[in-house]
This record gives sequence, structure tokens and C-alpha cells, in this order.
Amino acid sequence: MCGIVGYIGKKQASPILLGGLERLEYRGYDSAGLAVKKDGAETVIVKAKGRLRALAEKTDDGASVKGCCGIGHTRWATHGEPSETNAHPHCSDDKRVIAVHNGIIENYKPLKEKLEKAGYSFYSQTDSEVAVKLLDYYLKKEESPLCALARFMLRVRGSYALAVLFSDEPDKIFVARKDSPLLLGRGENESYLASDIPAILPYTHSVYYMENLEMATLSKSGITFYNIDKEEIHKTPVKITFSAQLAEKNGFEHFMMKEIHEQPQAVEDTLNESIKNGVICLPESLSTARIQALKTVYIVGCGSAYHVGVCAQYVIEDLAKISVRVELASEFRYRAPSLDTNALVIVISQSGETADSLGALRLAKQAGAKTLAIVNVVGSSIAREADEVMYTRAGPEIAVATTKAYSTQLIVCYLLAIAFGKAREQIEKTDCERLLAELFELPKKMHRILEDKERLQWFASKYANANALFVIGRGLDYACALEGGLKTKEISYIHAEAYPAGELKHGTISLIEDGTLVVGVLTQERLFEKTVSNMAEVKSRGAELFAVTTYGNYETESLADFTFYIPRTDEHFAVSLAVIPLQLTAYYISVARGVDVDKPRNLAKSVTVE
Ligand code: AGP
Ligand code: GLU
Repeated sequence: MCGIVGYIGKKQASPILLGGLERLEYRGYDSAGLAVKKDGAETVIVKAKGRLRALAEKTDDGASVKGCCGIGHTRWATHGEPSETNAHPHCSDDKRVIAVHNGIIENYKPLKEKLEKAGYSFYSQTDSEVAVKLLDYYLKKEESPLCALARFMLRVRGSYALAVLFSDEPDKIFVARKDSPLLLGRGENESYLASDIPAILPYTHSVYYMENLEMATLSKSGITFYNIDKEEIHKTPVKITFSAQLAEKNGFEHFMMKEIHEQPQAVEDTLNESIKNGVICLPESLSTARIQALKTVYIVGCGSAYHVGVCAQYVIEDLAKISVRVELASEFRYRAPSLDTNALVIVISQSGETADSLGALRLAKQAGAKTLAIVNVVGSSIAREADEVMYTRAGPEIAVATTKAYSTQLIVCYLLAIAFGKAREQIEKTDCERLLAELFELPKKMHRILEDKERLQWFASKYANANALFVIGRGLDYACALEGGLKTKEISYIHAEAYPAGELKHGTISLIEDGTLVVGVLTQERLFEKTVSNMAEVKSRGAELFAVTTYGNYETESLADFTFYIPRTDEHFAVSLAVIPLQLTAYYISVARGVDVDKPRNLAKSVTVE
């Protein structure tokens, strides 16, 4: 959600800012802006509503705004409509303070009233302008910009990644962070700041992650970090191992299609990350004794990460015989779940920055539960705050609709299920070996599905004008349906509802009419006939049927209008394969409907606000 970029060095800042913002576009935004400072001249601020292209056009791709120091922003509006006035950067009346802000200042109202009493007026509806003017207010009282920033941090509630240009210190960019992502990087005689790695990856592979309530100053010659007491602190840079190329489309029309195709490799990399010499490597504190003592496992996440949790619930309960509860982070964090030291709370998140998941993690820690994060972005807030972390190796995921991160999260959950099953003596060593061997077969089987994708393109073009569709299944097939439904909704704008197949007749079946598309997922042998019966029930009420099932289950041919077959695998892992035709179908429908596949309306990749 929202992107921040900053540069100070010897090069022209504007093209670097625009390029960086472009690589952060996936995060979602509705307007953009930049502020660039040229020695001896007044800082220029340019803003534009809508796509970044509009800002690039206004600045002649950056060429018309000269200067070697600047900050840029793509805004995802929280306070005030998306408009040029509300777009960032915001500034004090005399431009002594200019800043971009990502996050929400929760107590902006009383602060605004206070500032109004002190004579300030406001041109925008944003909380961010209040932040800027509060900084200006403190600057007049304090002896330096750093002191003003520290005082600001003590006064505001909420979240912020803040990059500030103070005219008093023209050779520096000031930054501060609380609960919104921010990282810094160094090049030769230059410093960078950004919300996420892809923005600065073409220039540096060595980054510093800002922690909560830390500040820093960036200059040509270096970066200095401070704690909230303005004491200098030392930070060690982290080496980024993936290349800038991974954040490019590499010949695919959309990032989503590229990322769908990266799933086999991402799955293999994730398996190799956690399995060494045929043994699953769990974080140290998850000892056999601890696993045996576990009473309940909670799995918490949002959106697709939650769907991974639903799938994991079936697999962990079956293989390890532990009771598992799956919770939406936004609900979990405001309940009072009875957690104790025998509970394990697993938080799943691609970005590691999702505000609700982070809130849930903090609640679990406070309650004394052990926490384990399954995260893709190294060094992200959730990864750093959890007691333990297991990384997925999906690489950077750019498309808003997750595909490869989802698939790698499933893999880590399967590994936990197998390891827990073994530690609790619920599965034999030989079962364990067989299951692991089966997991290593998944990439090959995924490739086979991808080779068949044109069949799905043909099918999707037929249904691109559908008004609604249902995805149904039982057990793990229902878990898969949840993800298929969400994919369709977010990128095709068709109302798609996932439903447990057996539950339809308790109300929802009344929505089925002539031509309603119902997608049935049938990978679980034990439940196959049951779901087939439910599909027959909707067929007899006019539905058109699309079945996703395993090779060999040819009985669906006579019932379904279209069937897509996936290779056989151990049934616990079938979701990993069955989800791919659902991802592809959603993608093709989206393209046929002319939707912006990678950046669907109203959505942001990383949801850093509640
Ligand atoms: C999935 O396609 C969505 N974009 C969304 O549901 C996402 O999974 C959710 O916002 C959680 O994000 P996270 O994994 O970064 O925490
Ligand atoms: N709350 C701020 C605004 O509405 C910042 C939003 C963002 O993170 O982009 O302008």
C-alpha cells in the first residue's frame, strides 16, 4: 500500500524516483508526486492524480525537474479523496518542511485542532499534511530537525514511514518509521530509501531495514541511524540475493502470468530451504518435546494467506492429530482468544507487513503464546517480530493477486504437518519419506498443468461475461475453492463465491439459475461422489459445470460441460495442483474483460492499514 522512494547523490533524482515508484506500482495507489531539490534553488513539487504515467508526463519523464536530491510517493488514499491536492508530498506554507508519508496518523484530529489554534491552516484533507505541519511546529520550538522529528514521534499515534526534506539541512533527507515498511540503501556516493526492495534493486543489493521508532539521515556520504532518544545507533546491512530481473516481466504480458509460471521453481526453492539431507529443519525452539506438548495451533492470516491456513488445518489435523484453528487476522486481533504457552500461533503473510496480521501477532505474543511466522519478504516486520520464522522462497511477488507466494506457503504448511506428525508419532518414518518424495514431485506436475493452459484460455473466453460464479468442493477441495473464488473476484470483478459443496442446499442453491457457472473441485477420493452429487443438483437447476479433478476420474465427463485434469499426488497436497487451473482461469477471464490484471481496482499488494 503506497510507495515511498528517496534519493540523494550525484545523479538526477527525478528519473530515479519515477523508476522506483514504477517498481512499487504493484503496491496499489491512486495518485503520485515528487519533490526535488536543486542546490541554491527552491524545491519543486509536482503531483498528479491517477497513474504514475500522468506524473511522468507532467515532468517529461523527470527531465524537467532538476536536482540530485528528492523524495517520491504513490498514495493509496486513506484520509481524503484521491486528488492532486491530497497527493503527496505535503509541505509547510514556506516549504521549510516537505514530506511524504505512508500510513495513518490516528490522532490527526486533535493535532489538527491544536495546530489550527496555533495559527496553521490546511489545504488538504489528509492526515499527512497534519504530520508535516506538526513537524514544522516542533521545528520552531526545537534546536534541530532531528529533535523536531523525535518530538513528533513521541506525539503521534498510528503508523508512518516518513521521508522529510528540511530546508534548514539541505544536504540531507530525514526518515522515521513506525509500523510502515521502510528500508535504506547505499550506493557509491549516494543513498536511497524505499518502501520495498524492487524500487532500489537496480542500484544496490545491500539494504538496511528501519525498525520501529528509529530515525535516520541520508546524505551523499552516508546514512546515520538514531533511536528515539536521538542517540546514534549502529545497523548492519542485509544482502539481497535476488536479482533485479526477478522484478521484471521477462517477456510475459503480465506479472501474474509470469508468477504463475514461476510456481514450480518457487516450490522447489522453498522445499530446499527447509529440507536438508532429507530432514525437515524446524526452527530451534520447535523441539520434539514442545511439539508433543502443543494443545492448539492457531493459524492467522488475511485473504489468500488465510486460505492457506484453511488448507493447512485439514493437513495438520490429519497428519499430526493436533487441533488447529484458522482465524482471519482482522477478527482474531480484536477477540480475546484463550492462548497460553501450549499454543502455537502461526502467522502467514507474503509481505510480512499486513497491518492486521501484525496486530494478531502482537496480540498472540502478549498473551504468552509461541509465535511462528511464515513469510516471504526477508526482514519484514512480521518476520522480525515473531519468535520464529520460516521463509518461503517465492522471490519478489509483484502482481496484486498472489499465486507463487500462496503456493510456497502451502509447502511450508505441509512440511510443518509432516514434522509435527512425526514428532507426535502419528506417522511412521517411511510415511514421512514417502510424503517428502511426493512433495519433490510437485514442480514437475505443476509444469504439466501449465503446458495445458490454452484449454483454460478457450474455456475462460466463453465465460468472460458471466455475472456470478460459484466454486464448490468439500474438505481440502473447499480450501482450494476459497482461493479460486478470491482470485476470480479480485482480478475479473465477477462476483465469485466459494462454497462448501454440501452446504449449498442450506440456502445458497436458490441463487442457481440457467447459465450460472459452477466450478467443482474434486481431488479427494473419499468425497468425490458426494461432490458429484452436489454438482448434479445444481446442474438440474440450470447451472453450467466446470470440473477440476485428477486424471482417472473420468466420471465427471458425462456431467460437466468442461473438465480439466490434474496429475495425481498424495491427496493432502492436491490443492497445490488444483489451484493452478483456477488461477489461470481467473487470469484469462480478467484479460478477456480488459481488467488491469496486475493492479486491479481498489486493491493494494501490501495492506499496511487496518
Ligand atoms: C491475494 O491475492 C490478495 N491480494 C490478498 O488477499 C492477500 O493475500 C492478503 O492481503 C494478505 O497479504 P499478505 O500475505 O502480504 O499478508
Ligand atoms: N494517510 C495518508 C493519506 O491518506 C497516506 C496514505 C498512504 O499511505 O498512501 O494521504
